[in-house]
Amino acid sequence: MQKILIDDISPGSVIAKDILNHEGVMLIPKGTILRDKFISQLHEIGVEEILVEENEQESAQRIKEIQKSMNIDEIIFEKTRIQAQMQIKKLMVKFSTMNHMNLDKIKYLVEDIIEQLLLKKDIVLTLSRLRSIDNYTYEHSVNVCVLSLIVGIDLNLDRDSLKNLGIGAILHDIGKVGVSEGILKKPSRLTEKEFEEVRRHTQYGYDILTNTNISEEAAQIALCHHEKYDGTGYNRRLKGESIPLYSRIVAVTDVYDAMSNDRVYKKKMSPDKVFKEIARMGNKHFDREIMEKFVRHLSLYPTGTGVILNTNHRGIVIEQNRLLPESPIIRLFKKDKSSNRSSFVDVDLSTTRYLFIKDTF
Ligand SMILES: [Fe+2]
Repeated sequence: MQKILIDDISPGSVIAKDILNHEGVMLIPKGTILRDKFISQLHEIGVEEILVEENEQESAQRIKEIQKSMNIDEIIFEKTRIQAQMQIKKLMVKFSTMNHMNLDKIKYLVEDIIEQLLLKKDIVLTLSRLRSIDNYTYEHSVNVCVLSLIVGIDLNLDRDSLKNLGIGAILHDIGKVGVSEGILKKPSRLTEKEFEEVRRHTQYGYDILTNTNISEEAAQIALCHHEKYDGTGYNRRLKGESIPLYSRIVAVTDVYDAMSNDRVYKKKMSPDKVFKEIARMGNKHFDREIMEKFVRHLSLYPTGTGVILNTNHRGIVIEQNRLLPESPIIRLFKKDKSSNRSSFVDVDLSTTRYLFIKDTF
């Protein structure tokens, strides 16, 4: 075992000795795989260093470095993504002082995103990148736009419809300019009154957008993206196909993106759990046909995911197996004890009957 400072620990490391609090109460038992959530909890309670299993800390560290440097194919150009995020930020910040929105630039960027997506075939979503909590709304807006357009393309929407869907999707949460920052960034549970204020972002967004030159259909997305197919959503508890099509699309992509990334009040879920959760919610909250179109682009274990096998070996997903999504090709790391050299081996899980993924990190 090895003593490691909490600042240097990597998710995926394994605790080598029970962690107790000052009163001797067990906090985390030996053998637990450390996740981001546990690491930040340990930070919060002031733990400075812990004992971890040596080999596993090393391979987890190695995987983290590889994940950072992996050249994962971006769905849209990084430059476009950043420009769009900056533009949303500008719109939201300026609106509070000018009370007016000029959407020309963001419209142009959405058209650029559509062009880029139309050139791609068979898009599989890769591991979501690390997000900064401060820029959450802007990054989330662009992601929801890209994901919604992927569904729109699958539905064979024409170019004008895609433009309406894209602009409405990228601005779906614009009404958050009317919600106090304290509530949006509150790390703990919201009171019913605070929830009510959050819910108002839909009507507020719609009111802002109807004063611009975007179409009614696009503005409706801001109003209806929290409606649920079974009629349990807000604001108007619309049901089934009385919810406009574009809002039914954004309802799925909005929830997917939120679950896949850290938020101030909740840690992200692993891709396989998000996949299952979206499929489960499909029966109640979403339009089933749209949900099914969307999940075709998801992967249980996106490229770049750290995985733990039934043999406790650690690896990283390097390639997908489209026909067998639960069995991707993974790179396993090992260290030769005599020479102290690290090496790796690539294993196609679809060709082995005895190896399977038991967990992710
Ligand atoms: Fe929203």
